[in-house]
Amino acid sequence: YKRITTKSLVEMKALGEKISMLTAYDFSMAKIIDGAGIDVILVGDSASNVMAGHETTLPITLDQMIYHAASVVRAVDRALVVVDLPFGSYQSDPKEALRSAIRIMKESGGHAVKLEGGKEIKDSVKRILNAGIPVMGHLGLTPQSIYKFGTYTVRAKEDAEAEKLKADALMLEKAGCFALVLEKVPAKLAKEVAESLTIPVIGIGAGNGVDGQVLVVHDMIGMTHEFNPRFLRRYLDLYSEMTKAFEQYRDDVKSRDFPSDEEQY
Ligand code: KIV
Ligand code: NA
Repeated sequence: YKRITTKSLVEMKALGEKISMLTAYDFSMAKIIDGAGIDVILVGDSASNVMAGHETTLPITLDQMIYHAASVVRAVDRALVVVDLPFGSYQSDPKEALRSAIRIMKESGGHAVKLEGGKEIKDSVKRILNAGIPVMGHLGLTPQSIYKFGTYTVRAKEDAEAEKLKADALMLEKAGCFALVLEKVPAKLAKEVAESLTIPVIGIGAGNGVDGQVLVVHDMIGMTHEFNPRFLRRYLDLYSEMTKAFEQYRDDVKSRDFPSDEEQY
């Protein structure tokens, strides 16, 4: 694929090719991720935690999401760029949801939007899709509702919640979503949902029976180090690598080792 589209992702599922997805919030990171051939870049509202240091995803604003998304879009040649609609930008009514989605598309150049929830947001999803804006769903653990859940534990372990999740997933596919994120649900349930849909299901903490995987990039490269859920595989330990580099630089400055004769004009 020269350029990933929403269509390519549905094709990949049909062909049995797994979809790789990572978050990014800025130009430099997005450049590396896109160059590495990751299929989908998510400008997640996890920027609220990772970039801004908030405890939840609730405080980040639509303007801030647009700033992050525009920075990412400038770096990307191949990946599909999906942008989270932040908390408060789509829950009140479908017209507001569409206005927010339009702002993201116009002002950031992103390729699609992601919204959390099922039948509660059905009308908003349909309205956005009617405007020609691709929508990715997000079910299971939906961090924008953390104050309703109370905890970040695994979702849909009980039958009632699992049944609702399956119905919501089907509804989102029928409405016209091109893909669906499932966060922190039992692998068996996630596999069942993936097998029942033709659109790809991309999991985070949802096991190996889905059509693709997504991780928060700062977690997978180990820049964060206090967040250690079971589903997280760390590919680097940048927290200690960067700490070592900064300490070395500090020491080199203090000891007058840096800059050397070759490092000056
Ligand atoms: O904001 C985010 O990073 C996400 C992913 C974890 C799916 O929504
Ligand atoms: Na998100």
